Amino acid sequence: MQEEIINIKNEAMAQIMGASDVSELEQLKINYLGRNGKINSLIKKLKDVPVDERKQVGITLNLAKQTINKLVNDKHQELIKSLTEKREWFDLTIPGVKPERGHYHPLTTVLKEVKTIFNHLGYQIADGPEIETDYYNFEALNIPKDHPSRDTQMTFYVDDKEKHILRTQTSAMQGRVMKDMKPPFRVLAPGRNFRYEQVDASHGFEFWQVEGFVVDENIHLTDLFGTIDYVLKELFGSDVKLRFATTNFPFVEPGVDTYMRCTICGGKGCSFCKNSGWSEIMPAGMIHPNVLKTAGIDTKRWNGFAFAIGLSRIVNLRYQIKDLRTLTTPDMRILSQF
Ligand code: DAH
Repeated sequence: MQEEIINIKNEAMAQIMGASDVSELEQLKINYLGRNGKINSLIKKLKDVPVDERKQVGITLNLAKQTINKLVNDKHQELIKSLTEKREWFDLTIPGVKPERGHYHPLTTVLKEVKTIFNHLGYQIADGPEIETDYYNFEALNIPKDHPSRDTQMTFYVDDKEKHILRTQTSAMQGRVMKDMKPPFRVLAPGRNFRYEQVDASHGFEFWQVEGFVVDENIHLTDLFGTIDYVLKELFGSDVKLRFATTNFPFVEPGVDTYMRCTICGGKGCSFCKNSGWSEIMPAGMIHPNVLKTAGIDTKRWNGFAFAIGLSRIVNLRYQIKDLRTLTTPDMRILSQF
């Protein structure tokens, strides 16, 4: 019985010292010292102990009871004290820490605007893979294997067989959409593109582009000009002035370069427009019949136009960013300025 008393005392001490709040302590007090507690049940057993041992066992039991009682009282004091100490430190008058408010990245802001403008014109948004096949990035766009225009789009190859690449242009979405959708349709395909470029202030290995294309009956070059004019005025204001020049892209005929009077210097010449007074802003053209035919579209009935918006370029003009790398930095000191 001596041993049993010592064990219960030790168990009680360990549990009481570990109590984390007052209610837990109260429960322990009941378990050990309450009317039906463990100490009382030992006291009840005392009468069965042989008479010559009973005195000694009684003393041990009493001591155990006193020890547990004292420990409960001490622990109670300690818990109350730590509670009030915590309260003393809780000063309601100290101003809180204000969480910083986040905001969209400038590329996201402009992309949302562009999407809204085109949604109003009835365009649907199409999303496609950044790892693209050579077929959709080049072949389906009338750019066969040895075509010289591949040299202007220095390509990252993903596999040895040169079948998968990081897409160099969101125009790659033309073939994907055309094989799945029946004309007429108007589609906008925004996304990231990659080219193997030496990185500096005006060149990056990744850039954002928004490809747009329309396939319908009786589409004319003037429909394309009207669309570009409307969109750029929405983005840059009604005094936008445009100039179109012919150019060559294998997937359009004729191909068109759009120049916008520099919105930064108003045409006088500055570092953004390389002193020409004009910024090259939207390459475009009438979709080449080969592209439509490859996608299985009947060119006797359907034709269309396509264009690309250099999103990074629009952001640069809008926020007058001189170094392209600003748009890909994770540095909050820079990003929080927009
Ligand atoms: N994909 C071309 C590039 O990144 C840009 C382009 C030119 C897209 C003419 C078009 C277009 O849709 O009609 O260089």
